[in-house]
Amino acid sequence: MEELALDIKIEKTSKSNLDQVDFDNIPFGKIFSDHMFLADYKDGKWQDLRIVPYGEFSMNPALSAIHYGQSIFEGLKAFRNRQNQEEVLIFRPQDNAARLNASAKRMCMPELPENIFMEGLHKLIELDKGWVPNTEGSSLYIRPFMFAADAFLGLKPSDTYTFAIITSPVGIYYSNPVKVKIEKEYSRTCHGGTGYAKVAGNYAASMYPAKLAQAEGYDQLLWTDAAEHKYIEESGTMNVMFQINDTIVTAPTMPEEDTILRSITRLSVLELLSDWGVKVEERKIPVQEIVDATKDGSLKEAFGTGTAVTIAPISHIGNDGELLEIAEVEGEKLSTKIKQHLQGMQMGEVEDNKGWIY
Ligand code: COI
Repeated sequence: MEELALDIKIEKTSKSNLDQVDFDNIPFGKIFSDHMFLADYKDGKWQDLRIVPYGEFSMNPALSAIHYGQSIFEGLKAFRNRQNQEEVLIFRPQDNAARLNASAKRMCMPELPENIFMEGLHKLIELDKGWVPNTEGSSLYIRPFMFAADAFLGLKPSDTYTFAIITSPVGIYYSNPVKVKIEKEYSRTCHGGTGYAKVAGNYAASMYPAKLAQAEGYDQLLWTDAAEHKYIEESGTMNVMFQINDTIVTAPTMPEEDTILRSITRLSVLELLSDWGVKVEERKIPVQEIVDATKDGSLKEAFGTGTAVTIAPISHIGNDGELLEIAEVEGEKLSTKIKQHLQGMQMGEVEDNKGWIY
C-alpha cells in the first residue's frame, strides 16, 4: 500500500452511536457512522483536510449548489474480510476517484487529487471500522460527494467547493426481484447531456417519472433514448443486462454513448463474464428486441448492476401498458453466479486476481 502522507486533522466524536445500531436489521442509507471526511476548495486549491464527528452542515441560503445544482457524488462499498474480521476491504475505490473527476469535469467543478480521495477514505474507514457490518448481504456504503459552496446568485461556476465522505451501514437495496417499466414519455438525459456523469440532477430528473411508475406498481424505470424512445439505456439506480439465449447484452457507455452511467459494478461483471467465456455484446438494445425475447422465451434473464443494488434480478418488464413476466430459468442463474463471485471477492472469500480489492 502507498505511504499515507497528507495532513488530515482528526477530531473524534465524544459519543459514538455504534451501540445503537441493530446490524441484523439495517435499512439502506438511513444510519450514518460517527465521522465524516471534509475538504474545502478555495483560492484554487484543496485545503483544510479533516475528519470530524458526523453532523449537520450550516449553509448560506444563497449556496450555489442549491440554486444551480453543481453537485456530484459517488457510491462504493467496504466489506469485512470473512477470512480476517479485523480487515476491511474496499471494492475498486480508485475507479470511483476517477469517475468523480469525470463528473467534476462535466459539471465545471475542480478535480480532486486521487490521494485526497484515497487517504481521506482510508483514514475515515480506519476510524469508523467498527461500523463495517459482518452480516450476510450487508456492507458499509460509502458516499463521497462534492458541491458548489459559493453564496452567490449569479449564474457562473462556483469559486469554492466542499468535498465530503460520509458512510452508512446498509443492508439489501431491493429485497425482491424488480419490476421495471420501459419509459417512453420522459427522458433521464439526452446526447450531450450529463447522463454519463454521477450528477445529483440526473437523479432529481428521474423522480417524477419513477413516482408515476411506482403508482402503477413498478419499482423502477427502464430509461430509453431521448430522441426516439426505441433503445433501452439504464435504470437510474442501476445499469441493466439481458441474457438472450447464451449472450449477455447491455447498452454501451462512454466513450461510445454519453447517456448512461458507467457503473463500476457493470464493468466488473462484463470483465468476469468475458473471463468465463460468456458471450457479451455491448450494443444498442431495441425495446422491441427485449419485448419479443420475453415473449418467445429467448430472454433467459434480466438484471441490474450497481454499487447499491449489487446484482438485482428483474422479474417483470412493463411496455406500453403490457406487463411481461420473465420466465424463471431452470438450474443456476447466471446473475446468481455473478453475484456470488463478486460478493465472494468483496468479502475476501474468492481470490482477487484482478487487483480490485483495496
Ligand atoms: C449507487 O449505486 O451507489 C448509487 O449511487 C445509486 C443510488 C440510487 C443509491
